[in-house]
Amino acid sequence: MALLTGSKKIKTVVFISGTGSNLKSLIKFSKLKKSPISIKMIISNDYKAKGLQYANIYKIKKKIFNFKNTFSEKKVINELEKSDINLICLAGFMKILSKDFVKNFKGKILNIHPSLLPKYKGLNTHERAIRNKDKYSGCTVHFVNSRLDSGKIINQKKVRIKRLDTPKTLAKRILIQEHKLYPAAIIKALSL
Ligand code: GRF
Repeated sequence: MALLTGSKKIKTVVFISGTGSNLKSLIKFSKLKKSPISIKMIISNDYKAKGLQYANIYKIKKKIFNFKNTFSEKKVINELEKSDINLICLAGFMKILSKDFVKNFKGKILNIHPSLLPKYKGLNTHERAIRNKDKYSGCTVHFVNSRLDSGKIINQKKVRIKRLDTPKTLAKRILIQEHKLYPAAIIKALSL
């Protein structure tokens, strides 16, 4: 990934659309001495995203863009370039980024997905895993390319599906693992 610039921390932005529990875990990780990242900005496509509260709590700059067209994406690109951002972490971000956007930050965008990719790309992953009577599901952190949930896998964590699991109970157990997996994936991605 060749992102490490001397001993300086990598200027990182986190994109969110919802609750932001992964964002919170990344902020906590960024505050550790051993962490290679520093979170400079939080971006959302939804001004109502609950996770935006962490911008206020941790005093991190926040910005809202609608991501509805290339004009809006250009504004995001300008903002990221202005702030010298070198790593983009998607964390529950519900918009698909355009090919041009991804090209602009090639190899610098990571995403977390609540399934063992390449299984269950897209939405409703827990429901699909339970319906198919899978023994395991889990979560994956991967590089983002121009195809949905298809970039190179960085790391994964398996979670056993219990007999009485509902999508909600399974999501809850997987989310706990996501919070550990994303920081570990960042460290690994930087060494690739
Ligand atoms: C996570 O399960 C993530 O993998 C998925 O959306 C959920 C976001 O949760 N893409 P949160 O907003 O980080 O709490």
